[in-house]
Amino acid sequence: MMYSADANRYGDMQYRRCGNSGVLLPAISLGFWHNFGNITPEEQSRAIVRAAFDAGITHFDLANNYGPEPGAAEQRLGKFLHDDLSSYRDELFIATKAAYDMWDGPYGSWASRKHLVASLDQSLRRLRLDYVDLFYCHRYDPFTPLEETLQALVDIVRAGKALYVGLSRWPLDATLKGYDYLRQHDVPCLIYQGRFNLFDQTPKAEGILDAIAQNQTGFISFSPLAQGLLTNRYLNGIPSDSRMAHDPRYLHADMLTPQVLNKIKQLNELAVMRGETLSTMALSWILHHPGITSVLVGASSPAQLRQNLSALQSPKFSEEEQQTITNILHTNTP
Ligand SMILES: NC(=O)c1ccc[n+]([C@@H]2O[C@H](COP(=O)([O-])OP(=O)(O)OC[C@H]3O[C@@H](n4cnc5c(N)ncnc54)[C@H](OP(=O)(O)O)[C@@H]3O)[C@@H](O)[C@H]2O)c1
Repeated sequence: MMYSADANRYGDMQYRRCGNSGVLLPAISLGFWHNFGNITPEEQSRAIVRAAFDAGITHFDLANNYGPEPGAAEQRLGKFLHDDLSSYRDELFIATKAAYDMWDGPYGSWASRKHLVASLDQSLRRLRLDYVDLFYCHRYDPFTPLEETLQALVDIVRAGKALYVGLSRWPLDATLKGYDYLRQHDVPCLIYQGRFNLFDQTPKAEGILDAIAQNQTGFISFSPLAQGLLTNRYLNGIPSDSRMAHDPRYLHADMLTPQVLNKIKQLNELAVMRGETLSTMALSWILHHPGITSVLVGASSPAQLRQNLSALQSPKFSEEEQQTITNILHTNTP
């Protein structure tokens, strides 16, 4: 199947320009935070990667610490790249990150030059790659001079270890300074990664989405399904194979309060009226938002991933539907 440059489509996948760069990213990208560590059977992870690539998902998002154990997700993808995808390296856009806790001692975390450079070298070894397409500073470091972090990102690109750089979870003022510094050093920030979904619209409230539009960078939304809350997963209890039941490192049962469950049920009713699943509607709502380059989904099976792709065909939201969503999100009755 040929890629259509006019329509930015390849097969059913839609590609969106990342800010004003030359890079096109799939509207749906795959995250490796969960389902690629040592607690997931290797063949399950492999099937998800294959299903993603076959569906045109060319962008894989990792970090040094994704596991468990930290590093396991990069190691696993490195194996799949070697076994299955070595001839497709140039069809893939692979991201990794550093700045969260990774190894013991004073250099194993945060965003000093020492940590960023050493961590990326470790990531490249685990991924069995010479370079990554995108390297993020995973969080803002209030203890390190901003210039040290940003110059390390510039130097990483100059050294050929990453083609582009991005910022994740940075506050607005540091992000704006980061954009300026990187632009002045001819390594413009490609993309900002932040949590943006129906339940958490912080990047909009804090002005990050406006800053992105003004600076013409991309934006990729992580946890677009609120780790599975914005799906049909928890409508009738907590299934034993769900993230909340078997890997509750970041998604705890006490996050499923009666108020949250009530909102999920009402959103699900709206999705049914639109003729789609809640996960499809939740992804579609983000993708219809101005300035969004891609949604970074997690999936524990190829079937989930395929279902999520239907968000690409989902219709726009009418004003009435938008109002219904606003009302649901602001209700606090259990
Ligand atoms: N920059 C950062 O600091 C940061 C932070 C967090 C995440 N991220 C990135 O964002 C990626 C995605 O995060 P996430 O895994 O939290 O994303 P998510 O898409 O919000 O949640 C993924 C989970 O939702 C459930 N799910 C997905 N599709 C479904 C469907 N069609 N039907 C029912 N359930 C479905 C699955 O849960 P079950 O496992 O229960 O089946 C899946 O594991 C990460 O992998 C990572 O790359 C970045």
